[in-house]
This record gives sequence, structure tokens and C-alpha cells, in this order.
Amino acid sequence: MIKAGVIGYPISHSLSPKLHGYLLQKYNIKGSYEAIEVKPENLKQEFDRLLEEGYAGFNITIPHKEKVFELAQKRGYKITSIANAVKAANTIYIDDTKSIVATNSDTFGFYENLRKGSNNFKLLNSSASKSAIILGAGGAANAIVYNLIANCQFEKIYILNRTKEKALKLANYYENYFIKNKLSGDELIPFNHIEAIEEITFEIAAKTSLLVNTTSLGMKNQPELNINLAHLNKSAIVYDIVYNPLFTSLLKTAQSRGNPIVTGIGMLIYQAFEGFEKWFGIKPELSSEEFAELTKILLSK
Ligand code: ATR
Repeated sequence: MIKAGVIGYPISHSLSPKLHGYLLQKYNIKGSYEAIEVKPENLKQEFDRLLEEGYAGFNITIPHKEKVFELAQKRGYKITSIANAVKAANTIYIDDTKSIVATNSDTFGFYENLRKGSNNFKLLNSSASKSAIILGAGGAANAIVYNLIANCQFEKIYILNRTKEKALKLANYYENYFIKNKLSGDELIPFNHIEAIEEITFEIAAKTSLLVNTTSLGMKNQPELNINLAHLNKSAIVYDIVYNPLFTSLLKTAQSRGNPIVTGIGMLIYQAFEGFEKWFGIKPELSSEEFAELTKILLSK
């Protein structure tokens, strides 16, 4: 029986057990995946306990992603380049050499969902002049900005956040990050077209080809996201990582004016695949019917 799980605090709301339960059943694997409540003060002990008890690995959710990354750094575990960039880990597994590895699959989840969830995805990498707007500057925004820099050729990425200092910090971090790597001989291309903004001006809106909400606004029991899409380029993809409700008012407004939209549930689903493959040995694939079925299961009470 292969054991895995997710650690977080609080954890009762986590959809990951349902998600991995669906995949375990689909592939008929004798395995378990449980939600494990871990208070911040018990993080190290619980981390060690799970590995001692033979867990193949686990996911990490709020509020532990940054702390687990720091722990992995301190202890000299293997850290993937993505986790290193984002400075947060959401997946732990043991590799072929029996080493403990810390990685971050949120970036993959975000991108795979964009790639699969939008018919207009190709446009993102074909039009010459285009920019992206990221709403929010927290952990999710960090993983997403990294991904956009690594995978898409945006002329400009704008970050808009309630707390401007955080948007500035994130923008500066990625400029410096890629420049530093270039100087040290890495092949990464420097990305110095990232900017914190206080409002979406007409010029910015007109040139946008992707707008992503990474804040918790629009989520059930949270205030609505208040944003005026009036000048947004009609072909811009509007992507909300909030998945409860699946169709947020941002997405409804975008859809009603003809913009392509991407819902957030796929990001949750696809971020789970890396851990599942590492722990249980099968790379998940879902047909569109299975994706719809799983979405229904995840969003049912
Ligand atoms: P996550 O890991 O999901 O990104 P986070 O790191 O706590 O979570 O980030 C939450 C994001 O939502 C932040 O950008 C936050 O803005 P601040 O940096 O100003 O805190 C944003 N957010 C949360 N509640 C908000 C609200 N009521 N109005 C505006 N932005 C909000």
C-alpha cells in the first residue's frame, strides 16, 4: 500500500484527497492519500514522521509551502529549478537515488490548464506585440509569473496588487533572477519587461493578450473582484485561478463581452499530476469526459 497525502493548516477544505482518490480508483492502484492537519509549530516533526512512516511523499499547502522550501534548503535536499525560482515547495517525493526532492507543480498546473483549457492558447505565442496582466502578488502569482517568463514570449508582464510594495518586490525579483542567471552563465534569458502598476490604463488594456486573477477575490465567501474590462482587448484570454465558483463574475463578464476564458479547476487538477506520478508510478491522463466528471466530483459538496 503506497501512502501519500497533503499537509496544511487548516486542511479540512482541501480537495486533494478527492482528486487523488479519483486517480487512484481510475488506475486501480492500492494506495492512499489523506489530508493531514499540521500546525506550523509541528511542521518539522510531522515532515520527518511521514517519511519515517514510509510515505512515498506528500503535497504541501497553505501555510507551509515556503517553510518546507526553506527546510529542504537547510537540509540540502534536492530542489528542482522551479521550486528554487518560486522559493516555495508544494510536492515532496523520493527519487530513484532515494533522495528527498522538493518541487513546485503549481507552475505546471497553471500552464497545462492554460494550454488545454483555451482554444486561443496558440495566439499567445504567435502575435508579436502582447502583454499579460497578473492580478495579485502572492504565492500563486509568483509561480505564474515564473511560468509566463519561462514559457511565453510576452513583451511585457504587468502586476497589479492591492499592496503595491508586494507587486514591486515580485517584479524586481524576476528581473534580478533572470539577469543573475545570465551573468552566471545559465542559459536563461534575462527578462526585464516586468512592471508593477497601480491601474490598468487604456493602453495596457488594449495590448493585453492574457489577464489572470491570482487573488482570492471572487471566491465563495470573499468580496468580488472589482475590475473594469471595458477596454480589454477582445481576444485577451481571461483566466481566473479561483475555482469555487467555477464561473466567477470576472469570467462571466469576460465571456459576455466575447473574451476567451479559462476556469481555475484545471490548475488544481494538473498540479496534482506530478506528485501522483512520482508516488504511485503512473502519469495521469484524463479524457475530456473524465476531466468533466472529476470537476463535478471536486465541486460537489
Ligand atoms: P496565494 O498563495 O493563493 O497567492 P497569498 O500569497 O496570500 O495567497 O496572496 C493572496 C493575494 O490576494 C495577494 O495578492 C493579496 O493582496 P495583498 O498582497 O495586498 O494582500 C490578494 N488579496 C487577498 N484579499 C484581497 C482583497 N480583499 N483585496 C485585494 N486583494 C486581495
